[in-house]
Amino acid sequence: MVLKNAWYPILWAKDLADEPVARTIDNQPIVFFRGPGGTVGALEDRCCHRAAPLSLGKVVDGVLQCGYHGLRFDPSGTCVGVPFHDRVPPQARVRSYRAVEKHAVVWLWLGDRDTADESRIPDLWWLSDPAWTKTQGYMKLQANYQLLIDNLLDLTHVYYLHASTLGGDAQSATVPSKIELLPDGLCAHRWMIDIVPPPLFARAGGIDGKADRLQASTWRAPSVVYIEICCAKTGTGAPQGDRSQGVTLWASHLIAPETDSSAHYLFSHARNFRHGDEEVTRLLYEGAKAAFLEDAVMLEAQQRNVLDGNISGMLNMAGDAPGVQYRRMFQKMLDAERSPGRLNAPAGVKGT
Ligand SMILES: [Fe+2]
Repeated sequence: MVLKNAWYPILWAKDLADEPVARTIDNQPIVFFRGPGGTVGALEDRCCHRAAPLSLGKVVDGVLQCGYHGLRFDPSGTCVGVPFHDRVPPQARVRSYRAVEKHAVVWLWLGDRDTADESRIPDLWWLSDPAWTKTQGYMKLQANYQLLIDNLLDLTHVYYLHASTLGGDAQSATVPSKIELLPDGLCAHRWMIDIVPPPLFARAGGIDGKADRLQASTWRAPSVVYIEICCAKTGTGAPQGDRSQGVTLWASHLIAPETDSSAHYLFSHARNFRHGDEEVTRLLYEGAKAAFLEDAVMLEAQQRNVLDGNISGMLNMAGDAPGVQYRRMFQKMLDAERSPGRLNAPAGVKGT
């Protein structure tokens, strides 16, 4: 249940420096490293000589040197040097992938590298705009990546699962979302009026008392979910466009399948207020991580019940509408990719 011709968010760019980094993506062991000029290289994490993981080697002048016998590979996967040999055997190469750095994230194109189209990376501008202060976290989840996407599109679970962290107002669980279809995803959004705001965002934004609150969750294929959050003092006009009495945050959830039953999860909160306030940064990072750990406990238990991440046959409630729509669109994308002659079809679908 993984689209091949798609971009996956893999690492925060800051976490890819001088050392190679190993990540298994869709059951494929891959090593990431910095090539010439700081570009990103991504190779099969298996030397063609004796199958040693290249991630146990080191980067030398923009090429990756195997830690076992010193074979050197450039970002295209071509072996460019074999110690003690005058010539490199022409068959000495490993598979390479297209990988790029954009919006402070390292992205991987899982399909044929010649089909990669950088314009299909979602525009997560707030992650690279210096006017926004970001937190950046990572965790491994022992659950299928689609269960996490379901979770992020289902905002009615917050009151129950996150009672001790995000908390909020029971009334918020009853406010339905409006769903807008996008060429490569969907947006589920709702304003909750005159509610008790989640303590985390109320504290970060200095909101006292009841609030009007926006949640706009956007899924972009295959595995990015971002949520625009606005919390403003009730009755100050935020739903009509005046956010001067409130705060806005972008919560980013960047997901990649590791195996059929595990996922990589990058998370971030970006804000355009109280810059340089380390206490707010710490509050948002620690608060969000505590909440996501609550999700992890539930999703990993859910994974043990569904085994393959397949949720077909489950009962859907009103709050599941965005998740149901996501699964439906994703299946169409998967079918389009797998249909002969349409392997390079755009991930977007119309008329869903
Ligand atoms: Fe959650």
